[in-house]
Amino acid sequence: MNVRLLHPVGASGTSGAPIGVSTAGFDPAVVRAQFPIFDTPREKPLIYLDSAATSQKPQMVLDAMDRYYRTCNANIHRGVYGIAEEATALYEDARRRFARFINAASPREVIFTRNSTEALNLVARAYGGWALKSGDAVLLTPMEHHSNLVPWHMLAAEKQLELRFIPLTGSGELDLDALPALFADGKVKLVSFVHVSNVLGTVNPAAEITRVAKEHGATVVLDASQSAAHMKLDVQALGVDFMACTAHKMLGPTGMGMLWGRRTLLEAMPPFLGGGEMIRTVTLTHSTWNELPWKFEAGTMNIAEAVGLGAAVQYLESLGMDNVIAHDRELSAYAMARLSEIPGITLLGPPAERRGGVVAFTVEGVHPHDVAMVLDRDGICVRAGHHCAQPLHEKLGIPASARASFHCYSLRSDVDALAEGLQRAQKLFAR
Ligand code: ALA
Repeated sequence: MNVRLLHPVGASGTSGAPIGVSTAGFDPAVVRAQFPIFDTPREKPLIYLDSAATSQKPQMVLDAMDRYYRTCNANIHRGVYGIAEEATALYEDARRRFARFINAASPREVIFTRNSTEALNLVARAYGGWALKSGDAVLLTPMEHHSNLVPWHMLAAEKQLELRFIPLTGSGELDLDALPALFADGKVKLVSFVHVSNVLGTVNPAAEITRVAKEHGATVVLDASQSAAHMKLDVQALGVDFMACTAHKMLGPTGMGMLWGRRTLLEAMPPFLGGGEMIRTVTLTHSTWNELPWKFEAGTMNIAEAVGLGAAVQYLESLGMDNVIAHDRELSAYAMARLSEIPGITLLGPPAERRGGVVAFTVEGVHPHDVAMVLDRDGICVRAGHHCAQPLHEKLGIPASARASFHCYSLRSDVDALAEGLQRAQKLFAR
């Protein structure tokens, strides 16, 4: 990987002003210095290997949110006074920035939600509830996070839909050879799948699956929760119809999700939540809807969080998404190499070149929760459990796994600490 220094130049505004990083290059150690959590005094240095659960936040994001609250906290789209207009401008600036980040045709196609889960529920309820009818099939995969399964379970029960699944190969990838048979009877009207598995790390061939789905006239939903923060996404090039992701995995705040949707579909489908701001007119018995994107943004939105998202996108852009995914892959390859040297560890998922920065594993004879607890004694944070992917673990024939996951601030020394910690855990449980 081409590693160059990334110089902090001091954080200031969230729109147009100098930002916290330059475009000079990428060095994870310099990047890490911009994340205050790693400087917080504690008994043992923090070795954070749970970025797939949530990412850490750079100073620039914290500053942007703090500045918003300190200088122009006001409700958006309502007040005609100065700070309300400033707040509205920051909020809509974040939407424009995110729209550019994913190459949306227009910011109007970007809907702010609370998280990916809400974005996926919005699609299932508002689009699926409107467009799908009894007997239609929805095509999913066994590697979905519960957030891309449960909304479809709920809709399927209500509308008598059939749920189908693209099978997995032995390496934890989707078996695309099965697609023709799955589409053969013409019943599949919607395909919804995860871009990067939060357990296996598998990067699914989104453009290819979408091409086949489109040949059969199906609408395509992409769960980009684990990819938007790590690789360049171009919704127009991918050809999907909806894409959901979340700011807190993108170095931004919690409480902020994003749904991108094709404008024609967003315009045609009914709203999701009703209330203030999403309306054009209201009488005692009837309402009409606001234009996009506000038709889908009922009530006071998470304004500070949108400001934080804007700063996070600016920060990611300055790192360069190609640098971020190259760094993730390098760490995955390194972790897989280090962990495979340890007898009793089984790695889940495909080779590093076909995955993102996620490495899940099991340790023979030690429950993943015990693994995580022993690692925690050394300040090492990993996730253990089913990672909100119970059906996938069932398919793998294991109740749970442990998982290390990386972001731009993760270091090879974190992986070394993990490998050493795992060996200590094995010794402890061998007694
Ligand atoms: N979806 C998040 C994870 O995989 C919370 O940990």
